[in-house]
Amino acid sequence: MIDEKRRPKINITRTLPKQNAYTLALDNEFKDFAFNEERAPLNKGKWRSEVFHAAESVPLDLEIGTGSGMHFAHHANKYPDRFLVGLELKYKPLIQTIRRAQAQGKKNSAICRYHAFNIDLLFEKNELNNVYIHFPDPWVTPRKPKNRVVNRAILSELYEMQRSGSFLEFKTDSREYFLWSMDEFKETKYQVEYQTLNLYAEDTIYKRENYQTTFEKIFVKQGIEINFIKAWKK
Ligand SMILES: C[S@@+](CC[C@H](N)C(=O)[O-])C[C@H]1O[C@@H](n2cnc3c(N)ncnc32)[C@H](O)[C@@H]1O
Repeated sequence: MIDEKRRPKINITRTLPKQNAYTLALDNEFKDFAFNEERAPLNKGKWRSEVFHAAESVPLDLEIGTGSGMHFAHHANKYPDRFLVGLELKYKPLIQTIRRAQAQGKKNSAICRYHAFNIDLLFEKNELNNVYIHFPDPWVTPRKPKNRVVNRAILSELYEMQRSGSFLEFKTDSREYFLWSMDEFKETKYQVEYQTLNLYAEDTIYKRENYQTTFEKIFVKQGIEINFIKAWKK
């Protein structure tokens, strides 16, 4: 359960003193597929039927913290028969994400300006399939682990929202965050399929099938080892 005292307060786009091209695109150009903090929760339990006009059986994946959306667009294009919802807080990357994903005309993705700590307000139990969390802010300087997205409360919420036979993938450059989150995973029902402190050390299927995100490319270039875990709701 999300701790009500830890619910983040975020500004409402509509009430910002100054709008810009990105805040306006959210409610105009992309209004059917980009949802601000007020409109996004109206889709709870209805993502497939109301947003994508699809059957309940079609897979619906989630990416938390899309950044500029390179992986998000890659996923949307690689899997035209799945739907994908992204969460992002910053306006520019949020619009870049949906623009990139829909550039080739396929409308199988949607983005929300939404804080991951409020995830329980966006999805019903059993509404999601696979979940991707790539390089979330590590909160090591300043050291504030309570702000980390991959914590036992959010993981447990995600677990309940996922359908059986779905996985969660988490990658980070921060060894400190990763080791901390491994203890968090142990407090959940997830079954770990594979975890490593160095994704690129061995020639595994996880390395071969890995899509390098924007942040990952930067870290790999700097010689930083990539921590990776794939865990299942069986
Ligand atoms: C370090 S970037 C990684 C972006 C991308 N996943 C990648 O690997 O290149 C983290 C992103 O998560 C977003 N973010 C941070 N905290 C978030 C939260 N609580 N909910 C949703 N998005 C968040 C940030 O705005 C930022 O774009």
